[in-house]
Amino acid sequence: MGFRKDFLWGGATAANQCEGGYNEGGRGLANVDVVPNGPDRAEIIAGHKKMFDFDNEHHFPAKVGIDMYHRYKEDIALFGEMGFKTYRLSIAWTRIFPNGDETEPNEEGLQFYEDLFNECHKYGIEPLVTITHFDCPMHLIKEYGGWRNRKMVTFYERLCRTIFNRYKGLVKYWLTFNEINMILHAPFMGAGLYFEEGENEEQVKYQSAHHELVSSAIATKIAHEVDPNNQVGCMLASGSYYPYNCRPEDVFESRKKDRESYFFIDVQSRGEYPAYFLKDLERQGIEIQMEDGDKEILKENTVDFISFSYYSSRVATSDPELLKQTQGNIFASVENPYLESSEWGWQIDPLGLRITMNDIYDRYQKPLFIVENGLGAIDHPDENGYVEDDYRIDYLAKHIQAMKDAVEIDGVDLLGYTSWGCIDLVSAGSGEMKKRYGFIYVDLDNEGNGTLARSKKKSFDWYKKVIASNGEDL
Ligand code: BG6
Repeated sequence: MGFRKDFLWGGATAANQCEGGYNEGGRGLANVDVVPNGPDRAEIIAGHKKMFDFDNEHHFPAKVGIDMYHRYKEDIALFGEMGFKTYRLSIAWTRIFPNGDETEPNEEGLQFYEDLFNECHKYGIEPLVTITHFDCPMHLIKEYGGWRNRKMVTFYERLCRTIFNRYKGLVKYWLTFNEINMILHAPFMGAGLYFEEGENEEQVKYQSAHHELVSSAIATKIAHEVDPNNQVGCMLASGSYYPYNCRPEDVFESRKKDRESYFFIDVQSRGEYPAYFLKDLERQGIEIQMEDGDKEILKENTVDFISFSYYSSRVATSDPELLKQTQGNIFASVENPYLESSEWGWQIDPLGLRITMNDIYDRYQKPLFIVENGLGAIDHPDENGYVEDDYRIDYLAKHIQAMKDAVEIDGVDLLGYTSWGCIDLVSAGSGEMKKRYGFIYVDLDNEGNGTLARSKKKSFDWYKKVIASNGEDL
C-alpha cells in the first residue's frame, strides 16, 4: 500500500523564474525576459501589448530571477538535504540556441546544464526536464512570429535532438511543453504570440497549438530513438471543472470547459484530434493547416506519461449573470462558495486534486506525474530568514493526503510529486517575488532589492520528513 517504493518526491522550478544571468554564457534574449512585473504584465502575456525589448519604465524580474545561474550548487545541495529524488527544472532555449534558428548550439549553454545535471546526480537526484517552460527566443518571435510559423517545428526539433544526445544517460524524464493548454490563456508565454489588430486570434492560437503538438510528437519519437530508457510526458494546467449546480446546462458547460484543456492531452496521449474539437473548429470557421504525415506522427508518437500542475478546481456555469461575477483568473471560474481562497484568490481544494487525478487517469489510463502544486503566500521571515509557514504545511499536507487517497483507494498509478517553487522564485502570473511557494526563503523583494541569501523555512524540515517516510508522516 501507499506510494510506490521508487516514488519521485521533489520540487519544481522554471529557468525564466529563477536562473537570471539573462545575458551570460552566450545566452540570447527570450520572450520571458522582456515581460515586466506590474500592471502591463497581463496584457503583454495575453499578446495584446507589444513588449519586444527592455525599457526604462518597467522592472524585469527575469533578468536576475533568484540568481540560480550562479547559485545552483548551493540550491541543489539544499534539495539534496531535503532528500529530493527528483528535481524538475527547465532548459532555457536561448542558452542552447541564442537566436533559435542557428544550426550549431552554444557550447557554454550546453555545458551549464551538463554541470547542473551532474550536480543533481551527486545527491541521487534524477532531473526531470521541461524542454520549454513558457520561453521562446525573441529572435524567433521577431523574425517568424513565434509558434504561428511552421518553421518552429524544425527549430524545436533541432533543440530536442541536441539535448537528447548531449544529456543521454544524465536525463531520463522529459516534458515537452509546460502547461500546453496555456497557449489559449497566455499566448505570449505559451507560444511567443503577439496579435495584430483585427486578427482572428483563435485561428492563430489553434494553428500554433498544432505546431506545438506535432513538435511534441516528434520530440517523443527522437527521445525514444536516442535512448529507449527515455520517458516523455505531456504537461497540462489541470483542475477539473465542477458544475455550479445540478442544472443540466451547468453540467454540460463544465464538460465543455474541461474539454478546452483535455483536447491537448487527447492529441498527445491518444494520438488524434477528438471529434468534439473538430466539430467546434468547424463551427468557428477555423481551419488548421496540416502537412502530409502530421496525422501519422501524432498517432505513432504518443506520450509515456501524463504530467500536470494542480492548484485549484474550477467552477462552470451557463448562467450569464453569474459569469459576470467571475474573477479575472487566467482560467475563468465562478467562485466556489464551499472553498477558502489564498491571498491571491486561488481557491483551495485538496479533494479537487483527487477528483482531477481520477478524471485524468480514467480518461488516459497512463501513469500520472504531479509536477506542480503549492501555495503562493506572503511570508514573514524573522531576522535569520526563518519563516513559520504552517499555512504552507497545512496546504501541502492536505493535498498530499488527497493524492495518497487517489493512489491507495482509487488505484491511480502515480510516478511522483514535485511541489511548485521548492525555492522561492518569481511568480509567472504576476511577476512578483512576494508570492512565495518555497521551502527555502530567498531574500529578494518585488523591486529587486535584497541579498539573495537562502534560508530554510519551517516547511523545509517538514517536507524532509514527508519524503523520508515516503508520504506516511504528514
Ligand atoms: C504554473 C506555471 O502556471 O503556475 C508556473 O507552470 C507558475 O510557471 C505556477 O509559476 C504558479 O503560478 P504563479 O502565477 O503563482 O507563479
